[in-house]
Amino acid sequence: MRVLGIETSCDETGVAIYDGSAGLLAHAVHSQVDLHATYGGVVPELASRDHVRRVLPLTEQVLAEAGLAREDIDAVAYTRGPGLVGALLVGAAVARSLAWARGLPALGVHHMEAHLLAPLLEDDPPAFPFVALLVSGGHTMLVQVAGVGRYRLLGESVDDAAGEAFDKTAKLLGLPYPGGPQLERLASRGEPDTYRFPRPMTDRPGLDFSFSGLKTFTRNLVRDAGDDPQVRANIARGFQDAVADTLAIKCRRALRETGVRRLVVAGGVSANRALRERFAVMAQAEDATVHYPRLALCTDNGAMIAYCGYLRLSAGERSAAAFDVTARWPLEGLIPPAGENVG
Ligand code: KG4
Ligand code: ZN
Repeated sequence: MRVLGIETSCDETGVAIYDGSAGLLAHAVHSQVDLHATYGGVVPELASRDHVRRVLPLTEQVLAEAGLAREDIDAVAYTRGPGLVGALLVGAAVARSLAWARGLPALGVHHMEAHLLAPLLEDDPPAFPFVALLVSGGHTMLVQVAGVGRYRLLGESVDDAAGEAFDKTAKLLGLPYPGGPQLERLASRGEPDTYRFPRPMTDRPGLDFSFSGLKTFTRNLVRDAGDDPQVRANIARGFQDAVADTLAIKCRRALRETGVRRLVVAGGVSANRALRERFAVMAQAEDATVHYPRLALCTDNGAMIAYCGYLRLSAGERSAAAFDVTARWPLEGLIPPAGENVG
C-alpha cells in the first residue's frame, strides 16, 4: 500500500509518500518561518492561507520526486489534530478531496502519535516496548509505548511545553522567531555553569514537568545583563543545559520505573544537539539506547503522517468522510490499529 501523507497542523506544510514495501519514497516540507517572523510567532490565519497556497504544489512535487502519478496512490493520510483548526482544515479538505475523487480510503492521524512513531522510519528502529519523550512546541510528554496505539501517559508538562519555553526564552534574549534553533546557536557560544538555573520538579517524585519558572529566571537575568553579547550567550547556555538536564533526569526516572531500556525522543526539540549529547551520557550510564528521527523528521513533516497513516490504513482503519479536525485530542484515547490482534 502506498500512502500520501499531508501535514498542516501549524506552520509547516509537509507532504510525503510512504510505500509499505519500499519505505519512504519522497517527502517535502515548506516552512512558514519567514511569513511569521515579523509577528514574533505563528499567526493562525496567515498559516491557513499559506497551507492553501503550498499543499497542492508540494503534492505534485513529491509525486514527481517519487516518479509516480496520482493514480499510483492507494490511500491518503492527513493530520486530524491536535493543532490549529484552520490550518488542520486545509490539509483535511485537500486529503479528503483527493481520496474522494479516486474512491480511496483516507484517515485522520494524531500529530503526536506520528511524532512518536517517526524514529521507526530509521534504519535501526527501536523494538517495542519503549519509553517516548515527546518534546514539541505544544506538548511535553513521557509515554510508555507497548505497541502502535498502546500508550500510557507517564508524565507531562503542567505549564509551558519544552519548545514553548525555548521560544519564549529566545524572545526574552531578543532572538527572532522561531526561538529554539536560534537559542541553540547562541548557547553554543556560551560558557557552561556561569548561571545555575533550577532543574524544575526534579527534587520530588513523579514524571511531570514544569518549564515556566525557567522563563522567569531568564527574565531576571536578562534585565541585569544589559547588552553584553557574551553574557546573553552564557544565559542561553545555562537555560539550554537546564532544560536538557531536567528532561534527562525525568527520562532516567521513567526508564528505571518501567524497567524499559529503549528511549525514543521525538518532536521539534529533539533536534537540539546539546540535548542529544546530554541524553547520550544518561543512556550509557543506564545501559539504555536512545532513538531519534533523522533531523529533518524531528520537526513537523509529512513523512511521519504518511507512515503513521500507513500503519493504521494497512490494518483496515478508516475515518468517516467528514472534516473532523480537532484542536485537542488526548494521545491516551488512541487504540491499536483496527484489525490488529493485541492478544
Ligand atoms: O514538533 P514541532 O516542529 O512542532 C510542534 O508540533 O509544535 O516543534 C516545534 C518546536 C518549537 O518550539 C521550536 O522552537 C522547537 O521545536 N525546536 C527546537 C529546536 N528545533 C526546533 N528547540 C530547541 N533546539 C532546537 N534545535
Ligand atoms: Zn509537531
